[in-house]
Amino acid sequence: MHKDLEEVLISAAQLDEGIKKLGRQISEDYAGRSLTMVGVLKGCVFFMTDLARALSIDARLDFMMLSSYTGSKSTGVVRTILDLKENIEGRDVLIVEDVVDSGLTMNYLLQNFKMRRPKSIEICTLLDKPACRKAHVPIKYTGFTLADQFVVGYGLDYNENYRNLPYIGVLKKSIIEGKK
Ligand code: IMP
Ligand code: MG
Repeated sequence: MHKDLEEVLISAAQLDEGIKKLGRQISEDYAGRSLTMVGVLKGCVFFMTDLARALSIDARLDFMMLSSYTGSKSTGVVRTILDLKENIEGRDVLIVEDVVDSGLTMNYLLQNFKMRRPKSIEICTLLDKPACRKAHVPIKYTGFTLADQFVVGYGLDYNENYRNLPYIGVLKKSIIEGKK
């Protein structure tokens, strides 16, 4: 385990198992259709690539980059840093996110995407923190449900660090400055 972590919350093996399960479910639900997966950078990277490879249906991959976070607390202000390359009009879109916390990011993205007239739009998140919600977000697929705790690893960062850990863990309190 990384020296800055207090504990490993979800091991690499648990991630693998949970994502394969999501992949089977999504493949069943979208059987015979072609999916456009939209990953929200940068947190989605490992989840997106593993989930895409766990699908038995055709899938196209696209990405967005949004900004709403500095440090460990949401600012609530969402900006588009990088937009989609593909036109999603008339397509079955699956948004792939690392974690839904306040829900403000997903709320913004859903409103934004609905104006582009996709055939359907659903959300798949690796992690859900329902206790932190400020805006209602209809999540179709969830990998793991967490309490109100700040986690890193497998794409999730703290000030851009720890994304490359192959598991998800809780940072030591001493590392998170000014966090209650
Ligand atoms: P929301 O808008 O509050 O739902 O925040 C969503 C975004 O905040 C996620 O896509 C993450 O980038 C970031 N975030 C929320 N919780 C955590 C966490 O526990 N660790 C790392 N990043 C997080
Ligand atoms: Mg993110």
